[in-house]
Amino acid sequence: LRRVYLTRHGESVFNLSGQLGGDSDLSERGVAYARALGQYLRKKLFPAESPAAESPGMDPCASHPTSEGGACVATATAAAVAAVSAGCWGPKFEVWTSTLSRTIETASHLPPATMKYSWAALDELDAGLCDGLTYAQVKERYPADFAARDDDKLNYRYPEGESYRDVLLRLEPVLLAIECRTSENLLIVGHQAILRCVYAWMFGIPVESMPYIEIPLHGVLELTPTPAGWSENRYAPC
Ligand code: G3H
Repeated sequence: LRRVYLTRHGESVFNLSGQLGGDSDLSERGVAYARALGQYLRKKLFPAESPAAESPGMDPCASHPTSEGGACVATATAAAVAAVSAGCWGPKFEVWTSTLSRTIETASHLPPATMKYSWAALDELDAGLCDGLTYAQVKERYPADFAARDDDKLNYRYPEGESYRDVLLRLEPVLLAIECRTSENLLIVGHQAILRCVYAWMFGIPVESMPYIEIPLHGVLELTPTPAGWSENRYAPC
């Protein structure tokens, strides 16, 4: 049965200091989560221990091409065929990250994957001039912006950055690709704002509520298709 797993990256150095955006590495706790996530998915996807399940790191057979756009289906098919010819076996399992270190690092302890993509479209909401600031610093330096975001979080666009509405638009190729992947298990290692958009789209949640959806740090959302839509289970691997 095909499942979609959503998780935020492990705690980053910027999460610890409360800074927005950036491209920081994982904290010690974040690295521990990346390891626990790997073990959790290994048990889920390879319940009976197998030689493939014991292989360290990502798929040893596939070449992991990177795609930043929607034209990924042909590449995915060719690479899947190549993986099978190379002797890979086990459930089909794709991993999508953003291009930022904290998601790639979080995906570095996973069981063998059929494919791995890093999508720029999955990068975190761009805080523009506020990138690298804490919320307290944003309030102090840009008080009008801070208030405007509080008033209308969906439409507020950071100076030289993005709004949630902007993010939803640039996520369109990713959302369509989720629809395409009907036979593969899929793990998306993402960012809070991004996963709010993905989750809202999958569950048909009104866009006005989207910026407030709770996507826990160090939790996995396991989504299973049913005739009535997606059903959800939440897990905490550590
Ligand atoms: O800065 C990135 C955060 O994931 C977005 O959180 O929209 O609640 O400020 P926020």
